[in-house]
Amino acid sequence: MRILVTGGSGYIGSHTTLQLIAAGHEVVIADNFSRSKPSVLGRLESLSGVPIKHHVIDLTDQDETDRLFAQGAFDAVIHFAGLKAVGESVAMPLEYYANNLGSTLSVLAAMRAHGVKKLVFSSSATVYGEDAPAPMREPFPTSATNPYGWTKVMQEQMLRDLGVADPEMRIALLRYFNPVGAHQSGTIGEDPHGVPNNLMPLVAQVAVGRRAGLQVFGTDYPTPDGTARRDYLHVEDLAAGHVAALKKLGETQEPVSTWNLGTGRPTSVREMVSAFAKASGREIPTVDAPRRPGDIADSYADPAKAQAELGWVATRTIDDMCADTWRWQSQNPDGFPEA
Ligand code: UFG
Repeated sequence: MRILVTGGSGYIGSHTTLQLIAAGHEVVIADNFSRSKPSVLGRLESLSGVPIKHHVIDLTDQDETDRLFAQGAFDAVIHFAGLKAVGESVAMPLEYYANNLGSTLSVLAAMRAHGVKKLVFSSSATVYGEDAPAPMREPFPTSATNPYGWTKVMQEQMLRDLGVADPEMRIALLRYFNPVGAHQSGTIGEDPHGVPNNLMPLVAQVAVGRRAGLQVFGTDYPTPDGTARRDYLHVEDLAAGHVAALKKLGETQEPVSTWNLGTGRPTSVREMVSAFAKASGREIPTVDAPRRPGDIADSYADPAKAQAELGWVATRTIDDMCADTWRWQSQNPDGFPEA
């Protein structure tokens, strides 16, 4: 298939692009590099051995998006593009709603105008809100605690409504848990814009010497060691989930399908820090800190539906995730080069 990958130069988009090419698909990336760097494209070309077609475009601009589809002849879209920092979304809600909803609306309008029926959408475990018991299952009600989370809830709703209006649509809502790790070459990985929000890139930056230490947010949770637990999954497993979902869209009769992508296994902050210290051979100094507002004790998937329907299962371990993140971070201490 010829696939438009929006946000294809970002963390999950870049890893998925490589797996799509390896599976025999043709990829066209659309990205405005607002949270990524163009130098990722050269790395993707080296790793894949093929030229990477890309368009620098603002997907909230309907005319630009229509022009892209007019030349594109796309068979499917994987829509990663979007803003994703929880704290930033609280400070800048209008930008989050305008960007995340606006880009999805213009991509959907262009898909309709050009007869493209298959869409894989980047949703998030954040749509389970703060009261859901773990393990989380797809039929649970959705909710959110911050504007970023609401943009995911709202986009899921838009896509479910579209599936009713146009039953020929084939839409996958993929609810990611906590993606970490990097390509095993160590040449592409997560390169957060500004100060990272997430645990793994912070731990990696401490290990490589970019930061002095890590705050452990909350040590009195009702978990075995008192720190919060998450379902970390390797970005390569996550990328494989997209390839599997795309294949499934060619077979299913359901206009809209929802799948959790996670391992089903929770790991605490302290467990992750000690696994990373072991993988890197570096000390990770930590200091106990109060809970971070909006955090929950336990978030992990029930991945049974993805396993049964997509034949997908996450195979990589926490040690694999730490080893691969460390290879990327130690070989690229400051992330991707500017040019
Ligand atoms: N943590 C620390 N110290 C830090 C950073 C994080 O202790 O400096 C802890 C957090 O408190 C949390 C755990 O590490 O307990 C994981 O935090 P992340 O920020 O890495 O991940 P979250 O699960 O909080 O957030 C992720 C995504 C969000 C999404 C959310 C819910 O980053 O986009 O899952 O699905 F909204």
